[in-house]
Amino acid sequence: MELVYSTLVVAHFIGLAAIVGPFLVQMRKNGDFAIAAVFGGAITQLVSGLLLVGVAEMGDGDLNHIKIGVKLVIALLVFVAALLGWLRARKSGNDRSIKKFFHAAGGLALINVVLAVFW
Ligand code: HEM
Repeated sequence: MELVYSTLVVAHFIGLAAIVGPFLVQMRKNGDFAIAAVFGGAITQLVSGLLLVGVAEMGDGDLNHIKIGVKLVIALLVFVAALLGWLRARKSGNDRSIKKFFHAAGGLALINVVLAVFW
């Protein structure tokens, strides 16, 4: 189980990088956002996070459920922002109109990092 948990933590960090990396690199841009990477990262965070909770609960996991609940709500908002941005980029082009979704997803993910570490 230890190996499964560690593998999920690695996936959780890769998903985090896929959201925050493009955001930090492209936050000043006005088009051609890596919104597909952010969307993939958002899915990865939801799936790996929920599986981490499941595996922790099977063991002696002593999770802070309020913290997990708040992180889940924020991760869902990240997912919705990334999904809307990704859909719009496919339909009407990856232009300045994607910026608000890109920034919402990146900014909220950063809030989740701070919550994960400091709470
Ligand atoms: C954008 C979304 C998310 C980000 C940026 C994020 C970020 C992080 C970070 C940085 C850590 C490592 C913290 C540490 O080891 O001190 C972590 C751990 C963890 N996250 Fe997330 N997370 C996200 C979504 C979620 C979701 C949706 C869940 C579950 C519903 C979740 C559950 C967990 C769990 C169980 C751990 C392991 C805690 C531990 O072993 O100490 N995360 N997350």
